Amino acid sequence: MSISDFKPELWTTSSNNALKISLVGENAVQFSPTFTYPIFGDSEQIFGYQDLVIHLVFDSVTFKPFMNVKYSKKIDNEADDIQGKLLKFLPKDDIIVKDEEKWVDAFEEEQKSYKFLNDEFKIGEYSIGDDEFVVYKAGIKDKFINKFHQRIQIFSLLLIEAASYIDDSDPNWELVLSFNKKTKQCVGFVTVYKYWKYEGFKEFDNDDNSHYRGKISQFLVFPPYQGKGHGSNLYQSIYNTWKNDSSITELVVEDPNEDFDDLRDRTDLEMLQKELFFNSVPNSGLVEEAWIKKQMKKYKIEARQFHRLIEMIMLHKNY
Ligand code: ACO
Repeated sequence: MSISDFKPELWTTSSNNALKISLVGENAVQFSPTFTYPIFGDSEQIFGYQDLVIHLVFDSVTFKPFMNVKYSKKIDNEADDIQGKLLKFLPKDDIIVKDEEKWVDAFEEEQKSYKFLNDEFKIGEYSIGDDEFVVYKAGIKDKFINKFHQRIQIFSLLLIEAASYIDDSDPNWELVLSFNKKTKQCVGFVTVYKYWKYEGFKEFDNDDNSHYRGKISQFLVFPPYQGKGHGSNLYQSIYNTWKNDSSITELVVEDPNEDFDDLRDRTDLEMLQKELFFNSVPNSGLVEEAWIKKQMKKYKIEARQFHRLIEMIMLHKNY
């Protein structure tokens, strides 16, 4: 091919379209990523291939990963190193590349001895239809949690804007996971962090009981399970755990997106309605700041969110 015949557009593929993610259980469910710029660069383009499909596949129980890059033509020496770019974000000694049979054998073997965490880590249970789910929370240094997190953390990059990997050597990070009790499939996960709340150095130094803020960092329900109520149940499990933990003063969320704000508003409002809080909010006029502060402390909800909730309750009362 002469240089004048070369058409770069024929050799350029959108990485969001080329990457196909699959969760394999009884059936395989395939979906596309929302973002690939952390892996393939801001333009989200891959150069040097035709008919490119990148399969990134996970067993839906163990999340043992498998990768296979397929294409009809490649420009030797010029094409982007897809495998190299992806492997930087996947657990190197764990992922199986190309050899599908080896991957199936590996996850089937792992499934035989696959166990949930002990009950001491359980923070919630819920049912959706006939299915029952259990929610666990454990420190990132836990062996099972650490390995599992290394397998699933790429989903944060692919589905949450501006997400980056957490420092999994920092013991303050914890992972919250929801599992289907029967199938053992993990339906979603949340990274959470406890950090110091300084209320004034003197007060802090004299206080034997340390106080923390509980931060939700990355919150994700895997696409096949979205829109069924898992997000709301996961959030409630975390909220209830921290509400009952006297060392936690409030729950904060790092960079919530619109979908998360929506989920949080609905779940917080349902909780406040059950607590009969709506009755104590005036129908109109100014709400006293001192009263709001007292209520915020009681419910451990941060100022921005609590003011939003009060506004929504007032709107609802006047509707
Ligand atoms: N039947 C039908 N619809 C239902 C049911 C049900 N049984 N239960 C809930 N729904 C509806 C809800 O009413 C809601 O509808 P709406 O969007 O019209 O208000 C919708 O389903 C979502 O509610 P949930 O099912 O509780 O939430 P989901 O499990 O889908 O989780 C989340 C929401 C976390 C945003 C998920 O879509 C996701 O992971 N998205 C990709 C990653 C992401 O954006 N994460 C948040 C980033 S911000 C952060 O990390 C802090």
